[in-house]
Amino acid sequence: MGIFDGRRIVLGVTGGIAAYKAVEVCRRLIDAGAHVSPILTKGAEKFIGRATFDALASEKVQTSLWEEEHPIPHTNLGQKADLILVCPATARLLSDYRTGRSADLLTATLLATRAPVIVCPAMHTEMWEQPSVQENIQELVKRGVEIVGPDQGRLAGGDDGAGRLSDPVSIVAAVEKVLNSGLNSKTQDFSGLQVLVSAGGTKEPICPVRYIGNRSSGKQGHAIALEAATRGASVVCVTTEPSRAPNHPNLQVVAVETADEMAKAVFSEAPKSDLVVMAAAVADFTPIIKSEKKIKKSEECLEIRLEPTVDILASLGSSHTGKQILVGFAAETNDLEKNAKKKLEAKGIDLIVANDVSAENTGFNYDTNAVTLFDLAGRKTEFPLADKRDIAQAILDAALKLKVNGHEEIGKK
Ligand code: CTP
Repeated sequence: MGIFDGRRIVLGVTGGIAAYKAVEVCRRLIDAGAHVSPILTKGAEKFIGRATFDALASEKVQTSLWEEEHPIPHTNLGQKADLILVCPATARLLSDYRTGRSADLLTATLLATRAPVIVCPAMHTEMWEQPSVQENIQELVKRGVEIVGPDQGRLAGGDDGAGRLSDPVSIVAAVEKVLNSGLNSKTQDFSGLQVLVSAGGTKEPICPVRYIGNRSSGKQGHAIALEAATRGASVVCVTTEPSRAPNHPNLQVVAVETADEMAKAVFSEAPKSDLVVMAAAVADFTPIIKSEKKIKKSEECLEIRLEPTVDILASLGSSHTGKQILVGFAAETNDLEKNAKKKLEAKGIDLIVANDVSAENTGFNYDTNAVTLFDLAGRKTEFPLADKRDIAQAILDAALKLKVNGHEEIGKK
């Protein structure tokens, strides 16, 4: 077992003389069990050949946004990565990354990821000391990018000074530190578990053109599905936003639109699931009559009569055996605690994730969320504003605790 087993690392190589040292870094990452996807910039290809990385890395070198097998290589690479390592990083790369300029496949991938990023600058001392370069570095540090090096030492052309790429051993040690730091630590603690997650807002058709929908983007549910998959679970994600769903080998996406379709998909998967997380915003009502033709404009008022949909979570809760953990969401605009606790009881579930969808930067469509978890034992745990991926981690930690400790532990008969 290597220390990086199961971890996916994108290794970005830019065009500096130190590019040859990236070969050694690549070999060390592979030896430690990582899946390494190399990206070479045009400049890097002047210093080092593709064939070297093709032979050493886990997959073929990618160099362009346009010539690769995958139609959107940057999002494919960026979303799957556990970490992106840029080694070496030129002054140009630092500037493009800082300003969010998607100039090539590597910078596009850096923009299309939420994974931690390590950048290892290497350049001549005069370049390294330029205020513009230093400002870029400081800004990247502020944003949470880990900068490794540069060291002092011999540079190209016989010069000596600051700007030499850190040695490969230190770079790999930095990778280990970042991957094992609290937030990024991906133990395989969900390995062997089946997880079912619903995500997105259902769309209830009025006619072929219009529907009744809600503001859910699916981001929180997708983050939970991805987090469970990276922690080793076999995940089914039933979503109304399949084009935004994450891509992971452990994750199967089931596309649905309506509450009825979501109910059917969830009911068919739930019996085999150890954990069900209903993160979807399911419509409570659907039009009784769905017109087969487009409803035309008229002078009269239009009346659409609605009937209730099936409450998927409550129905799972009514036949809850206790072997399975059921997690629901409570999207509220007022009386958060009271309403959430009521839903926990009424739906017969184990854990409810309450979020105030009217608060700033939380809930629908944001990348961040702030939630409070309530469980059957009356425990209340608050998680302040954080990235939805971190919130996903907290929800899964709590659900796994319930799964492992059982219901007796928390007072359920
Ligand atoms: N839910 C469900 N089926 C429905 C409606 C909701 O499974 N038809 C689930 C949601 O996925 C969520 C939880 O129930 O996990 C609570 O959803 P929410 O919309 O907050 O509450 P409702 O039960 O719909 O009640 P209300 O709209 O009155 O707050």
